[in-house]
Amino acid sequence: MLCATTTGSLLLAAIFSALTLLYPSNAQLSSTFYSSTCPNVSSIVSSVIQQALQSDSRITASLTRLHFHDCFVNGCDASLLLDQGGNITLSEKSATPNNNSARGFDVVDNIKTAVENSCPGVVSCADILALAAEASVSLAGGPSWNVLLGRRDAVIANQSGANSSIPSPTESFANLTAKFFAVGLNTSDLVALSGAHTFGRAQCRFFNQRLFNFSGTGSPDPTLNSTYLATLQQNCPQNGNGSTLNNLDPSSPNTFDNNYYANLITNQGLLQTDQELFSTNGSSTISIVNNFASNQTAFFQAFAQSMINMGNIKPLTGSQGEIRSDCKKVNGS
Ligand code: HEM
Ligand SMILES: *[C@@H]1O[C@H](CO)[C@@H](O)[C@H](O)[C@H]1NC(C)=O
Ligand SMILES: *[C@@H]1O[C@H](CO)[C@@H](O)[C@H](O)[C@H]1NC(C)=O
Ligand SMILES: *[C@@H]1O[C@H](CO)[C@@H](O)[C@H](O)[C@H]1NC(C)=O
Ligand SMILES: *[C@@H]1O[C@H](CO)[C@@H](O)[C@H](O)[C@H]1NC(C)=O
Ligand SMILES: *[C@@H]1O[C@H](CO)[C@@H](O)[C@H](O)[C@H]1NC(C)=O
Ligand SMILES: *[C@@H]1O[C@H](CO)[C@@H](O)[C@H](O)[C@H]1NC(C)=O
Ligand SMILES: *[C@@H]1O[C@H](CO)[C@@H](O)[C@H](O)[C@H]1NC(C)=O
Ligand SMILES: *[C@@H]1O[C@H](CO)[C@@H](O)[C@H](O)[C@H]1NC(C)=O
Ligand SMILES: *[C@@H]1O[C@H](CO)[C@@H](O)[C@H](O)[C@H]1NC(C)=O
Ligand SMILES: *[C@@H]1O[C@H](CO)[C@@H](O)[C@H](O)[C@H]1NC(C)=O
Ligand SMILES: *[C@@H]1O[C@H](CO)[C@@H](O)[C@H](O)[C@H]1NC(C)=O
Ligand SMILES: *[C@@H]1O[C@H](CO)[C@@H](O)[C@H](O)[C@H]1NC(C)=O
Repeated sequence: MLCATTTGSLLLAAIFSALTLLYPSNAQLSSTFYSSTCPNVSSIVSSVIQQALQSDSRITASLTRLHFHDCFVNGCDASLLLDQGGNITLSEKSATPNNNSARGFDVVDNIKTAVENSCPGVVSCADILALAAEASVSLAGGPSWNVLLGRRDAVIANQSGANSSIPSPTESFANLTAKFFAVGLNTSDLVALSGAHTFGRAQCRFFNQRLFNFSGTGSPDPTLNSTYLATLQQNCPQNGNGSTLNNLDPSSPNTFDNNYYANLITNQGLLQTDQELFSTNGSSTISIVNNFASNQTAFFQAFAQSMINMGNIKPLTGSQGEIRSDCKKVNGS
């Protein structure tokens, strides 16, 4: 009897460790991962971003977005940062959601250089993206949180994955939630993380389908506030330059606050996918929007937790991948 129980526990332990090996879990990430090897890494990251902010008020937003676009493709593994060349035949950088859109790569390189100067060969580029997102949100007036660390860097990029996994701004609500579910995030995460559109910019080409002839109706998107519509039509005229920039949150363009949700309630979401969170009839996301609009503390808490959830998507850990010495290149290439 005793023997059978012991065998049973051993078997369970064996199955558990086999599963752990097969599915490396985010349980291996830890907020103290660099506490002996690079204790000052957070302040180094933050100080480089503060420097960049002097000449680029948008950089905190751009860096926050990079972590998102990294994590949704093969997990948070810095695959986004790899330049095309050598074994990297098709980069993620030039995938549809990123090409002429994702920015801040030069600042990531400056962060990496500063970190390498203090602690050579220790901190992954994937962790730098996670740390840079937290520092950016915090510097812009948003919440702070303990970033979980210990990710390693990919040796491959996945352009087709970037094309298909990162949501597009014209996605239907059902498709949007499906792309979040596919990486283990639910509709609460979707609403909280979309609040990152409280800062930064968007080019006309990402929402001008809403302004004049929405879905072939001959009219603008009916969920777009008419006053706001007039402003947007002026900034993004038909046949105008699709690269023209607009503030994602006109009320406080560079500040991380909960105004994004108030905008949705007054039909002033800039992207179609933003407004869908509030204007999809019967959606469970409506009450979450109302809550975040009326309670910034609730938003900040949820955002921090959802960023941790997003940062836990399929990290490479242990002996997987590598610590890149240049975030743009696989080591030895
Ligand atoms: C829910 C689905 C999402 C869609 C469809 C979406 C789409 C977009 C688009 C089209 C832009 C404008 C890019 C440009 O004009 O070049 C943008 C900007 C931005 N996105 Fe998202 N996004 C989504 C979710 C997120 C998430 C989860 C985050 C981060 C947690 C995020 C952070 C940002 C930030 C900060 C910007 C401004 C970037 C800058 O100014 O450089 N977005 N997004
Ligand atoms: C940590 O980094 C910050 C910013 O770079 C710097 O001001 C501080 O002196 C550093 N502290 C240590 C102990 O190295
Ligand atoms: C990315 O944009 C450039 C123009 O800046 C274009 O030449 C190139 O074909 C685009 N790449 C992809 C994969 O679409
Ligand atoms: C990604 O999408 C762009 C635009 O449709 C396309 O040119 C490119 O070939 C796609 N990449 C892959 C690997 O499918
Ligand atoms: C690329 O991404 C797609 C979609 O996320 C995934 O199904 C595929 O397995 C990935 N490919 C590689 C080689 O990692
Ligand atoms: C939703 O996803 C389906 C299947 O991938 C696709 O055919 C459809 O075009 C998508 N719809 C929108 C609005 O993105
Ligand atoms: C989403 O997941 C979180 C746990 O990560 C949970 O607390 C929350 O209730 C879930 N939301 C929905 C709508 O299922
Ligand atoms: C709107 O688009 C549809 C389909 O693309 C087209 O048939 C229609 O003529 C357009 N209407 C106007 C007013 O431009
Ligand atoms: C469109 O605007 C972008 C950025 O403002 C600029 O670089 C580009 O030259 C413009 N293109 C045209 C055709 O005017
Ligand atoms: C449109 O936006 C204005 C603020 O610019 C607001 O006062 C008004 O209530 C909004 N209208 C709708 C229908 O949400
Ligand atoms: C949502 O419901 C309102 C009021 O019943 C209706 O006017 C509107 O067309 C509906 N919107 C959508 C996208 O179905
Ligand atoms: C706001 O949200 C926080 C966190 O969920 C909660 O503790 C607090 O009671 C809420 N405040 C109000 C006024 O509802
Ligand atoms: C490129 O791929 C080849 C074949 O898989 C491999 O032998 C080589 O080590 C790779 N190069 C680098 C720099 O990773």
